[in-house]
Amino acid sequence: MSNHRILTLTFAVAAAVTATGPAQGAIGNEPIQPVAAAKTGNPALAELGKKLYFDTRLSKSGFISCNSCHNLSMGGTDNLKTSIGHNWNKGPINAPTVLNSSMNVAQFWDGRAKDLKAQAGGPIANPGEMASTHELAVDVLQSIPGYVSEFKTVFGSDKVTIDEVTKAIAAFEETLVTPNSRFDKWLRGDKKALNASETAGYRLFKDSGCVACHNGPAVGGNSFQKMGVVAPYKSSSPAEGRVAVTGKDADRFNFKVPTLRNVELTYPYFHDGEAATLRDAVDTMGRLQLGKKFTDGENAQIVAFLKTLTGDQPSFKLPLLPPSSDTTPHPQPFGK
Ligand code: HEC
Ligand code: HEC
Repeated sequence: MSNHRILTLTFAVAAAVTATGPAQGAIGNEPIQPVAAAKTGNPALAELGKKLYFDTRLSKSGFISCNSCHNLSMGGTDNLKTSIGHNWNKGPINAPTVLNSSMNVAQFWDGRAKDLKAQAGGPIANPGEMASTHELAVDVLQSIPGYVSEFKTVFGSDKVTIDEVTKAIAAFEETLVTPNSRFDKWLRGDKKALNASETAGYRLFKDSGCVACHNGPAVGGNSFQKMGVVAPYKSSSPAEGRVAVTGKDADRFNFKVPTLRNVELTYPYFHDGEAATLRDAVDTMGRLQLGKKFTDGENAQIVAFLKTLTGDQPSFKLPLLPPSSDTTPHPQPFGK
């Protein structure tokens, strides 16, 4: 492929990104902006959401919580190729991080949920994930006096609804942002925050065209792009991406561009989890998205840059969950 074609392609991709939501307000015209500190709009709502996020009683087994697959001690992921759900079910796709997910243009690899609230109801009732139903989850919460009074304080009603549950979880997730990475300090003017190899990596990341798709505060998350622009990506997974939502052939193998914030923590990579290391992921991206084969030295510099995107991880006291009552439906950990 000629250089001319690669450049045209990079600009075409850049134009596509601009059309779906450009990064605003660049610091010194950088394509990446610092992550803003968490918004604390309604602390009581987010606190309730935190409890629900950790509560395994939202699953049929009484064993799986949001945190099982989006472990906040491990970058908001499970670090598995694909997740394990109810009954040891092998999931179809890699679990993306919940960190900074409030910045996503939509949720899931194919964007089928429009926001965090719409997303949060999904796993509770997904037979391969938490395998409960919205009715059962609400019955469980309604049977727990500690929850009933907390929902009443937050929402002003005696009746717990799934709408309130997903609203609270989404409010908690909005607090899961990771500011103050070394790269953000560098962006804000602390030029000593990065070493020579990391700044060289950032320059390569920009000049090679990675920023056409990975830009904005989340370094991704703001557009859907084809996996395999220059050459096809061979995957063991049947997932076809965005076409599942739009039905348009042009959206086949278009996936939401993942955030690269905290990417050092969120291995393995890609929707099928097939890239075990950042080195692998960067090599594949260079070849398939940009028609560029990085030398070992260039690859190492880009990886060094990517590791500067790890920010302050959410830090809080583990929530204490109110105990079940005599009437709480019992967990069913085994069997369908
Ligand atoms: C059994 C593992 C599992 C459990 C439990 C689980 N998730 Fe997920 N989550 C996943 C997987 C896998 C995906 C990606 C699915 C897809 O894109 O099709 C995902 C996607 C997401 C996303 C979208 C992130 C993005 O970048 O698109 C969010 C947000 C999320 N989950 C939050 C939650 C919340 C909140 C709960 C609890 C109510 C939860 N998850 C429970 C595995 C799980
Ligand atoms: C044409 C748009 C595009 C360009 C250019 C691009 N990427 Fe990506 N990137 C994507 C998409 C889409 C995915 C998700 C692909 C998948 O999972 O199948 C991705 C995934 C990744 C991942 C894995 C993240 C994760 O959590 O799974 C890394 C790391 C990455 N890209 C780095 C880079 C680097 C470094 C470059 C430049 C060499 C680059 N990307 C260029 C669109 C792009």
